[in-house]
Amino acid sequence: MDKKIIFFTGSSSGIGWELLKKLLQEKHFLILPIRNYQQKEHLKELVKIYKDNIDVIEMDLGNLNSLTNQNIWHRIKQYPRIDILINNAGIYTHTKHLQNGIELQWLVNYIAPAYLSLQLVDLLSKSNSPLVLFVSSRMHYMAKINFEDLQYSKHYSGQLAYANSKFAITSFSLYFAERFKNIRSNSCHPGVYSTGITRDLPFLIKFLWNTFIPGPKEGSEVLYQLLFNPEFNQQTGKYFDKLKISQAHKDCYNKEIQQKLLDFLEQATGIFI
Ligand SMILES: NC(=O)c1ccc[n+]([C@@H]2O[C@H](COP(=O)([O-])OP(=O)(O)OC[C@H]3O[C@@H](n4cnc5c(N)ncnc54)[C@H](OP(=O)(O)O)[C@@H]3O)[C@@H](O)[C@H]2O)c1
Repeated sequence: MDKKIIFFTGSSSGIGWELLKKLLQEKHFLILPIRNYQQKEHLKELVKIYKDNIDVIEMDLGNLNSLTNQNIWHRIKQYPRIDILINNAGIYTHTKHLQNGIELQWLVNYIAPAYLSLQLVDLLSKSNSPLVLFVSSRMHYMAKINFEDLQYSKHYSGQLAYANSKFAITSFSLYFAERFKNIRSNSCHPGVYSTGITRDLPFLIKFLWNTFIPGPKEGSEVLYQLLFNPEFNQQTGKYFDKLKISQAHKDCYNKEIQQKLLDFLEQATGIFI
């Protein structure tokens, strides 16, 4: 199998952790943006074993100063190319957190993966088979975005904020595929699994979820198939529900809404689109 250079967010836990172990066994080279790396003993152990195949980059996707840090980007841009970008990192929060004046789920689930993808276009374009996967969620169908109040100043629902952020990244993935035709780009719902994503759920829901819902192994296999099986990875501009090409929320295809989301991204990060 071809050895790929893979930029992979959200590899320290859940679905991403399972996928990371498989990708390392196959000897791909992994660039891993990780927050609080020093506290992640399980990851440090893996890095010891696969030190020639991993580059850990300290990056907090929920912090704009870290996400846009020029020193970090200078280092990333030394790579000769990137073959695959896996935008897997995500959070669910039950209560509202603001970071740099922006609600945290917007930052981690939309602003960060969109910003990373745009920043990496040049390196992806140097690959002879570039591919981007955005991990979204079926929850995006529940989105109701109020563009007059993206900060949720009047009312906050963690579920709605999660749905809105996943809508935004699904919509962005469609925009990205159309804008950069040389880069294949898809989004997906990976399935429902018991992972760290439940950590901020109310106790009882978390307990029931973790008792009755299976662990993330199958989810990592879904991502693996989307990335490496030609039946799926030759597609572009698609939304997959697990391995099935599906229709995303109809408004994700709406150009006006896409533009409003791009404006939000530009205002937040200063990235020129
Ligand atoms: N599990 C499900 O049922 C389900 C369903 C639909 C969609 N998804 C999506 O699947 C993806 C993977 O989630 P998961 O279920 O595997 O959850 P998880 O176990 O909580 O993994 C999330 C990953 O994202 C990383 N992350 C979160 N905030 C970050 C930040 N500020 N900076 C850098 N990294 C950050 C986490 O790093 P830390 O270890 O530092 O927290 C972790 O590696 C997410 O996009 C999620 O929305 C999951």
